[in-house]
Amino acid sequence: MQNTILVGPMGAGKSTIGRLLAKELRLPFKDSDKEIEQRTGASIPLIFDVEGEQGFREREHAVIADLCRLEGLVLATGGGAVLRDDNRRALRAGGRVVYLCTSVEQQLDRTARDRNRPLLRAADPEATLRQLMAVRDPLYRCIADIIVETDERPPRLVVMEILDRL
Ligand code: S3P
Repeated sequence: MQNTILVGPMGAGKSTIGRLLAKELRLPFKDSDKEIEQRTGASIPLIFDVEGEQGFREREHAVIADLCRLEGLVLATGGGAVLRDDNRRALRAGGRVVYLCTSVEQQLDRTARDRNRPLLRAADPEATLRQLMAVRDPLYRCIADIIVETDERPPRLVVMEILDRL
């Protein structure tokens, strides 16, 4: 059984949608960030503080490589998982890739009260999200089998569309 892998920016709803989708498909749900936290016993912000983004990306790569070798999972990935080409190859080979496409406005809305995202500690989170999107949107698109719009749509509707198109 193929994996279903969710990619997209912070605030796209990957964890919420992934959990619902896994329930519908009766498959286990994994979240690469949670897996990193379990393996290290440290939160993502602490890993960024101690090891920097580079250290986090190494850990993220190890987790993605391992999880993509498994079968029959729904996997939510961190927003920057597509940055490395070895990750993109692993994700492509690891299953059906679903890009949860989301506007910066919606991302801002969904991440506003969340302190768990070190990249959004910057003075201007909107500018940060726009810069990240400019670089990453083409990368999400280039590995996606399915692109699903999430703006102004309840997670259940997004899940139904993914189920229809898988
Ligand atoms: C990141 C997104 C986060 C997390 C880390 C870095 C990014 O995951 O992996 O803070 O580079 O966009 P979410 O996309 O689940 O917020």
